[in-house]
Amino acid sequence: IRMILMGPPGAGKGTQAPKIQEKYCACHLATGDMLRSQVAKKTQLGREAKKIMDQGGLVSDEIMINMIKGELENNQDCKQGFILDGFPRTVAQAERLDEMLAAKDQKLQHAIELQIDDGLLVSRITGRLVHPASGRSYHKIFNPPKEAMKDDVTGEPLIQRSDDNADTLKKRLSTYHAQTSPVVAYYQKTGIWKPIDASQEPGQVWKSLLGVFGDDK
Ligand code: AP5
Ligand code: ZN
Repeated sequence: IRMILMGPPGAGKGTQAPKIQEKYCACHLATGDMLRSQVAKKTQLGREAKKIMDQGGLVSDEIMINMIKGELENNQDCKQGFILDGFPRTVAQAERLDEMLAAKDQKLQHAIELQIDDGLLVSRITGRLVHPASGRSYHKIFNPPKEAMKDDVTGEPLIQRSDDNADTLKKRLSTYHAQTSPVVAYYQKTGIWKPIDASQEPGQVWKSLLGVFGDDK
């Protein structure tokens, strides 16, 4: 499978992508997780990215395109297929992705948009808990971990992302509407755009995804 998963902050990209990854043996490339790992390692890129992420802005196209290019070229797990989560976020990124794939005689099969009203996202974002090393996420109310503040798999502590507050969320949403909505429009002109109602409960969203892949029989 070769696909992208779009949707505003909190739409459920990081919740659904691992399920797709498991079912279709594709690699899950989440650009936000990649940036957060640079932040954790305190690299030069990480330091610069943290400022931008905490302001709800976008890291430069050049950096993001090179990051994805590197993975698609060198990550053996991506040869079978990939799920891009959080990329492309600008039309320039979308165009470069098409070029990268065309150079390998490949193209995207699905551009899935997780649709949800902004009003539902505040509670999702402010209640989220994450396991930094794996990117696994939970929710204080909607998907609590088995043990308070501990990852179900490793038992390691869960944290809140520094951009998961109501103020930064407002900025992330306005960035999404200004810069990423045109990406949705870009794919709407192709035959691969598929909208899904992301306000449903997670199991129902998963069923809708299987429907898109034609795997719901
Ligand atoms: P990124 O990490 O991609 O953040 P985002 O797009 O804002 O998306 P989120 O991770 O917040 O939401 P999600 O859709 O994954 O939701 P989740 O499944 O966790 O990017 C962060 C930053 O990095 C950006 O702001 C930007 O600065 C930078 N960046 C990244 N990529 C870039 C790029 N390509 N170009 C430039 N800059 C880039 O769910 C959220 C919560 O809700 C969880 O608690 C979950 O348990 C819960 N939940 C999920 N589904 C449901 C449901 N159906 N019902 C109830 N609760 C649910
Ligand atoms: Zn995410």
